[in-house]
Amino acid sequence: MRINIAIDGPSAAGKSTIAKKCAKLLGYSHLDTGAMYRCVAYKAKKEGIDWNDEEKLAEMIKNMKIDFDKNGNVYLDHEDVSQKIRTNDISMGASSVSRHLKVRECLVELQQQIAKSKGYILDGRDIGTVVLKDAELKIYLVASASARAERRIKEYIEKGIDFDRDEIIKDIERRDYQDMHREHSPLKKAEDAIEIDSSDLTIDEVVSKIKNELDRLGVVYD
Ligand code: DC
Repeated sequence: MRINIAIDGPSAAGKSTIAKKCAKLLGYSHLDTGAMYRCVAYKAKKEGIDWNDEEKLAEMIKNMKIDFDKNGNVYLDHEDVSQKIRTNDISMGASSVSRHLKVRECLVELQQQIAKSKGYILDGRDIGTVVLKDAELKIYLVASASARAERRIKEYIEKGIDFDRDEIIKDIERRDYQDMHREHSPLKKAEDAIEIDSSDLTIDEVVSKIKNELDRLGVVYD
């Protein structure tokens, strides 16, 4: 039996890492929906479109092409933007453009088209509540702001990127607030989602909890 899996939660909770691991385990496809909002923010910035201009953003999306390869690289209008969309500026921009209903409608439709058949793992903010309401397994992955900040800092050290610890914590808190308090599809736990707090868990420990849920559902994996 193939199923669809929704993974939602705040920024830097480890959603994409966990989604990738589970996709590999199951032989499923992973769709990082946050990357799509990031592409909208990136393209708007490049074209001088204000992140608050809903009409222009919606118009722009009609003419943009987002592709993923099997390694998770992201292509915007055929340009590899995998790294360019991961800056702090674009993170805040993605959170800003995602407030607009028209932006959400366009991207949600695309996401639903992609995950029409079973065998998909989508991670984001509204997957269990809007995009894949009928997903057989919904995970709400949380972690404390300090645990998430520490993970970001570790990532920056590994990549040799300069950082300001206080700025990272502030950015995480600001984005949490914006994503949870917006009018349309705010981040919230779906009623039927299973909450996992990963603050004190390793990646493998989180995956093992998800494996328990897969076993409960009778899903076969290696
Ligand atoms: O998961 P991420 O950090 O790459 O997401 C970037 C922003 O995009 C996030 O702050 C809110 C928005 N987003 C959203 O509104 N809905 C989604 N399904 C995924 C992301």
